[in-house]
Amino acid sequence: MALSQKLLEQRLNRPVKYFDQVESTNDAAKAWLAAGAPEGAVVIADEQTRGRGRKGRSWHSPPDAGLALSLVLQPDSAHLPRVNLVAALSVYDLVRECGCEQVGIKWPNDVLADGLKVSGILPEAVWEASRLKGAILGIGVNVRLDFSGSALRHSAISLEDVAERQLDRGELIASLLRRLDHWYRLIASPALFAAWKSRLITLSQPVRVGEIEGVAVDVTADGALLIRDEQDNIHHSGTGDLVMNAEERLH
Ligand code: BTN
Repeated sequence: MALSQKLLEQRLNRPVKYFDQVESTNDAAKAWLAAGAPEGAVVIADEQTRGRGRKGRSWHSPPDAGLALSLVLQPDSAHLPRVNLVAALSVYDLVRECGCEQVGIKWPNDVLADGLKVSGILPEAVWEASRLKGAILGIGVNVRLDFSGSALRHSAISLEDVAERQLDRGELIASLLRRLDHWYRLIASPALFAAWKSRLITLSQPVRVGEIEGVAVDVTADGALLIRDEQDNIHHSGTGDLVMNAEERLH
């Protein structure tokens, strides 16, 4: 059954724009926000032709294979960095719901299942002069992408591989949106940060973020990573690609 039909069976209780094919759901959500989309509105696509990843990378979104959605949020600007945490916790819950026990969040927002990346998260802020107009929270989940024979075979995995059964993408989207609503309600609460921190697999591990190498010793309330180098200097890393030197620890 087509994803559009599956979504009709779900009560998503929010404004939805669905595309069989779109360049990027984040871009479509930004355009919708500019045209007045309310908080909670979501753009969903079966296929993205120019899906975007972090750091200018592309995100592969072929038809019938994954989830690609972008949620319009209007958080207080003080809570903007926590939008990342909301997404990571929601995907974490989704992977758990699919029966995977080896789930963890690799700082800042990669959800790993059985040690491999199962989703990508791309939050983007939209400013109107110095006023935050909104945040677009883009989430991609590999549901049945086949990575065997691809360069990503040692780093990426699909949900159906860990669930060991066929999954209904309409149900997955409905469930993910319920989890997003749940964690977003807690955006101002210390409970959100505590939950995210407790699911991080990065702390106490040797790491490298850009030029900084050391041990990940803590995270700040805004989600930045604190790294202690060999000279005992503490570095504060707000973004960046993390390389974990040791084998990744899951829980
Ligand atoms: C990453 O590099 O890990 C982040 C990937 C984010 C991909 C999602 S798919 C839905 C949304 N639309 C996009 O163009 N990108 C995000």
